[in-house]
Amino acid sequence: MIKKGIILAGGFGTRLSPLTKAVNKQLLPIYDKPMIFYPLSIMMLANIKKILMIVNPGQIENFRTLLGNGSKYGINISYKIQKKPKGLADAFIVGKNFIKRDNVALILGDNFFYGQSLTIKLEKSLKHKNGARIFLKEVRKPENYGVAKIKNNIIQKIVEKPKRYISNLAITGLYFFDNNVCKYANKLKPSKRGEIEITDLLNIYRKKNQLSHERIGRGAIWSDAGKMEDLINLSNYVESIEKVQGIKIACLEEIALFKNWIDKKKIKNNIKFYGNCEYSNYLKKL
Ligand code: TTP
Repeated sequence: MIKKGIILAGGFGTRLSPLTKAVNKQLLPIYDKPMIFYPLSIMMLANIKKILMIVNPGQIENFRTLLGNGSKYGINISYKIQKKPKGLADAFIVGKNFIKRDNVALILGDNFFYGQSLTIKLEKSLKHKNGARIFLKEVRKPENYGVAKIKNNIIQKIVEKPKRYISNLAITGLYFFDNNVCKYANKLKPSKRGEIEITDLLNIYRKKNQLSHERIGRGAIWSDAGKMEDLINLSNYVESIEKVQGIKIACLEEIALFKNWIDKKKIKNNIKFYGNCEYSNYLKKL
C-alpha cells in the first residue's frame, strides 16, 4: 500500500504573472478555496496521510500559515524547498529523504480532479507494488500535454507535447511510483528546455513493461490551473457544483471527519482559525 505522497507546489507560475509575482500559484483561489486544497484533498481521499509539500525558497511560511503541520486535518505535512524549478522528476531527488524505502504518490499542486469513481480508482492504484501508474484523460489540445498512445490497453508510446497527433490522452498530474523512482530520477539528463522530465522517467518504466494506467472516465473532470482561462473555468465549475448541490468540493475537514481522522473539537478550532466566512459556515453544518 502506498502511504506517502508528494505535492509539488513550487514552480515559477510564469503564465499567471503578475498574479504569481508575490504569491505562489498554489495559494491563488479556485472559487472559495486556495488551489492547494484540491490536490491535497485528492491525497486525503486516497488515504495518504504522510505528505511532503515541495515549495519555492522563501514560501514555506505561507503554506505553513495556511496548513500548519497538517494535524488540523488529521494528517502529517512536512515541507521541503526546491531551490529551482528543475522539472517534475526533481520531486524524487528533493524528496529522497522523505521517500526512504517506500513507494510514493505524486500530485502537481495546480491539478484539479473531481467526479465519479475517482476514489475507487485511487484506492486501486495504491495497491500497486511494482512499477509506475498514471492517470489519463481525453483533452482537446493534446499538443499542450504529455500524451500517451494506447493499444490493446497497453501504453505504447509517451511523448511530451507532441507536434504530430498520436492520441488525445493526456497524462494528468497524478502518479504512483515504486521505490525505484529515486534511483531512476537520479539518472535523468535535462531536456532541451533544461528540465528533468517526468515523461523520461515514465519511459524508463514503459521500456521495462512496468507502466500501467487508469482512465479518468467521462463522469469526472481533470484540468490543471496553469493559465488564467483555467483558473476562471475551474472557479466557475466549483461554484456551479457547490451552489446546485449544497456540498463543497475539497473541504479538507469533511474528508478527515468522514475518515475519522479528526473530531468535532478540531473542526471547532478550525472554524476559529478561518473566522467568519462561508467555509466556516459549511464546517458548522458538518
Ligand atoms: P508547470 O505548470 O509546468 O510550471 P509552473 O507552475 O512554474 O508554471 P509556468 O509554466 O506558467 O511557469 O508546473 C506544474 C506544477 O508543478 C505546478 O504546480 C508547479 C509545480 N512545479 C514544481 O513545483 N517544481 C518544478 O520544478 C516544476 C517544473 C513544476
